[in-house]
Amino acid sequence: MAITHPSFGRLDDDRIIIFDTTLRDGEQSPGFSMNLEEKLRMAEALAELGVDVMEAGFPIASPGDFESVQAIARRFAKDGPVICGLARTAPADILRAAEAVRPAARRRIHTFVSTSPLHMRVKLRLRPEEVLELVTSSVSLARQHAEDVEWSAEDGTRTEPDFLCRCVEAAIKAGATTINIPDTVGYALPEDMARIFTMIRERVPGADQVVLSAHNHNDLGLAVANTLAAIRAGVRQVESTINGIGERAGNASLEEIVMALRTRHDAIPARNNIVTRNILRTSRLLATITGFDVQPNKAIVGRNAFAHESGIHQDGVLKDASTYEIMTPESVGWTTNSLVLGKHSGRAAFRDKLRALGYGEVGDNQLNDAFRRFKDLADRKKVVYDEDIVALVDDEIVRDHDRVRLVALTVATGLGAKPMATLALEVDGERRDGMATGDGAVDATFNAIRNAFPHDVTLKLYAVQSVTGGTDAQARVTVRLEEGGKLVDGQGADTDTIVASARAYVHALNKLLVKRERTAPADLRTMLSA
Ligand code: KIV
Ligand code: ZN
Repeated sequence: MAITHPSFGRLDDDRIIIFDTTLRDGEQSPGFSMNLEEKLRMAEALAELGVDVMEAGFPIASPGDFESVQAIARRFAKDGPVICGLARTAPADILRAAEAVRPAARRRIHTFVSTSPLHMRVKLRLRPEEVLELVTSSVSLARQHAEDVEWSAEDGTRTEPDFLCRCVEAAIKAGATTINIPDTVGYALPEDMARIFTMIRERVPGADQVVLSAHNHNDLGLAVANTLAAIRAGVRQVESTINGIGERAGNASLEEIVMALRTRHDAIPARNNIVTRNILRTSRLLATITGFDVQPNKAIVGRNAFAHESGIHQDGVLKDASTYEIMTPESVGWTTNSLVLGKHSGRAAFRDKLRALGYGEVGDNQLNDAFRRFKDLADRKKVVYDEDIVALVDDEIVRDHDRVRLVALTVATGLGAKPMATLALEVDGERRDGMATGDGAVDATFNAIRNAFPHDVTLKLYAVQSVTGGTDAQARVTVRLEEGGKLVDGQGADTDTIVASARAYVHALNKLLVKRERTAPADLRTMLSA
């Protein structure tokens, strides 16, 4: 039965709302934090991807979270996805979320409380009747500030069925327009989804007038399967993240759900608004920003997702791709490796290429910097592929607001020689020179960065990957730094692995500065022992 929703108007039965929580559930997992500019960039990409609802953050969590939700809401003040802020039941939480999302043209407050016996007893220390009262009071308050209110039963899949129905009924009576039942700990099986949502639809008065929603975690690797089962059981909204990032083993992956719906429309006839050809670049942007690449065999977006290695498979694919491909690589944004631009290409062609790769309008400064780096790359690299350009532009975009920049680097090394790195950084516009030796060129470079800009952090991970094949391929380096229990990942790309390493280290350093600012605002000079 079609229903009318405050943000979407008439919703037909087969319409699935794609709710993205990359910037909230995804961002709250260790190592995945993003700064304001990175979140804004990701928000743009998610909007271009066509998500219906974007959970932009948890505004009460910190001033930084509030600011980024508000900045995203401002960015979508005229149109765009519904911008959602998360809140617990406390009035202060709800008011903070309401204030953060207010500038958005379409906004949602998402309030939640635990309903399982274990969570209520151990975490909340509340009796069920007290939790029921909180459901009513939190949703009622949220409704005073937004027409579109989502209520979630945290640990819903481990909640006692009668109590779950009573909570859902209370939330609907108080004005919730979406009811979300999270599998918070990734415990459920597909048949549990069918049982829970069918039960709610059959037993709870008013359940046919609201959007039912599934939010599945991947602890048993079942998040996507559970989400599809929930759709079959009648949910109209699914919550997911790009690359499946999220708490612990992550959330259901948006790209997998969407492509399962598209590829198996025969079995699950449901529609959504995702522009599937933007999937790959959104996935790559997230990997660039967070520093976490997806595993090569990851469905849809992994490097090997459309690669055919065995002779039998290659032969089949050459005769007819559908022998071993159930969807086309192009449908999710893969392009065949082609020579895209040469060193004689001009700025206009470069801008056109960026549009074709889905970058929309890149600012003049970013375009100039990216174009300069492209020219430099085209001089050094025989063949410039689309993937090279994506790596380079993403690298430029994530650096746009960096306070520490790498401006020069020379490394002298050789057989039997102690490597020596000499470099220059710009720190808040002020030049700092550094020089150091080390156990290898990378170590010397990192020591030189510490020499130019003294700081005390631990290097937890250093990883190199090549963007394309060949000895002239760009290297994409990930550096993970730790300081006082906080982890950040930085990324850098360049044909020179040492330069890519230095960029990655400096990127991670910038992220640490942002983290410090969030917890204790202070002048940069006093923040690091410079
Ligand atoms: O997993 C969960 O229960 C959540 C809720 C806050 C929706 O993320
Ligand atoms: Zn979650």
